[in-house]
Amino acid sequence: LDHSPFPSNFLFGTASSSYQFEGAYLSDGKGLSNWDAYSHKPGNIIDGSNGDVAVDHYHRYLEDIDLMVNLGVNSYRFSISWARILPKGTFGDVNLGGIDFYNNLIDALLRKGIQPFVTLNHFDCPQELEDKFGGWLSPTIQEEFAYFADICFKFFGDRVKYWATFNEPNIQAVKGYRTGEFPPSRCSSPFGNCTRGDSETEPFVAAHNIILAHAASVQVYRTKYQKEQGGTIGIVLHACWFEPISNSKLDKLAAERAQSFFFNWFLDPIIFGKYPAEMDDILGPILPEFSSNDKEILKSGLDFIGINQYTTFYVQDCISSICEPGPGVTKTEGFSRQCSEKDGVHIGEPTDLEWLNVYPQGMKKMVSYVKDRYNNTPMFISENGYGEKNNPNFTLEEFLHDVKRVDYMARYLDALSKAARKGADVRGYFAWSLLDNFEWTFGYTIRFGLHHVDYATLKRTPKLSASWYKQFIAKQKDLTLM
Ligand code: GCO
Repeated sequence: LDHSPFPSNFLFGTASSSYQFEGAYLSDGKGLSNWDAYSHKPGNIIDGSNGDVAVDHYHRYLEDIDLMVNLGVNSYRFSISWARILPKGTFGDVNLGGIDFYNNLIDALLRKGIQPFVTLNHFDCPQELEDKFGGWLSPTIQEEFAYFADICFKFFGDRVKYWATFNEPNIQAVKGYRTGEFPPSRCSSPFGNCTRGDSETEPFVAAHNIILAHAASVQVYRTKYQKEQGGTIGIVLHACWFEPISNSKLDKLAAERAQSFFFNWFLDPIIFGKYPAEMDDILGPILPEFSSNDKEILKSGLDFIGINQYTTFYVQDCISSICEPGPGVTKTEGFSRQCSEKDGVHIGEPTDLEWLNVYPQGMKKMVSYVKDRYNNTPMFISENGYGEKNNPNFTLEEFLHDVKRVDYMARYLDALSKAARKGADVRGYFAWSLLDNFEWTFGYTIRFGLHHVDYATLKRTPKLSASWYKQFIAKQKDLTLM
């Protein structure tokens, strides 16, 4: 029992994404992305910032790889900026400046024995696609995405063995088309720059196009590249765990519905060829249908499931009980209200962030759930991490002394190891994130890094969590050699 629960080829890494890390938003032929357009509009990002520079990973990737080498990780999850590769989508040429950047990054990683784990879409896409045909609301995006994926497989697939098509598509669909917090910022009741859209149906249309874009790109990989290149392809999902707030049958069903409306929404079509029954029942005609041709393409499936697991919520049934307003209460969210407290007691330790509750058992439960529901498909924990508000009064020492992050990671990894011992096919873990970075609409006000970034100088400094993670990885290596 004292041997590591993680196999010797387990991937330990850190995760990042192009818009949050790269900066260099106009360098070497890159086109404007939807996030460039969105963050440049005053009022969208709470500190008035944007990702023009971000943490300048574009210019500092060699220094950042040195930080990874010091941690002892054997993998790095990053995403490719679509607008860097195809500034105008299929309406323009491949930008060789962008190809060079990712070639250099991939080669530098491999020279240090670090496997690239590449996400094709982590929320950013060329603004041109939005302007020309309405982005994710149009089925045209399916071929656009498959073409982008094809270019990436062709140029990078000789060296990249792990591909994820999308990151957290539910967030993209809901924030982009219901709450308006992400581009293209469409919502039911306009505020700020948000434009009125049909917020009941649009998230489901966008998600439908994302699911089919996933399928189309996997089909390209399977038919043109996989045999020769020998890699794998999957998708990364937002994976909250949901605990029923009581033992009542109704609250248990509500928790299952929440799981369907957040998570199974994507995996059921990709793995079983249809939407979850709960979604069909509640949404009826709101939910788009798969044609017989779509169903054929969906059969290309996936090789692994990426799980972004940070937090857990209690869930209360809202079909038969009267629910206070909050996430989940409407039909389009599955009538299952989410909250962090029961009888005045918080579900786990609260954090600075409203959505982040420290509940390590949720990791074990989520992984076991995926194992059971989806035939123990190989899984990667593609993100897990602890965020803190950027306290302007903190000294550097105080930032570096991140004991809460260490405690969080230690407990979540322990819970993960328990799920692995019980037979879940977990193949990797990526800490979010290597560095403090641009946290979407929260700008630079939240820090998730194992390394502190001074935004005035962009200097990186390891936090306590970096040395803790380094020791943890080294210990697992020793254990697997025993
Ligand atoms: C994601 C994320 C990351 C976040 C991280 C912390 O994949 O969800 O949006 O990009 O920065 O989850 O919130």
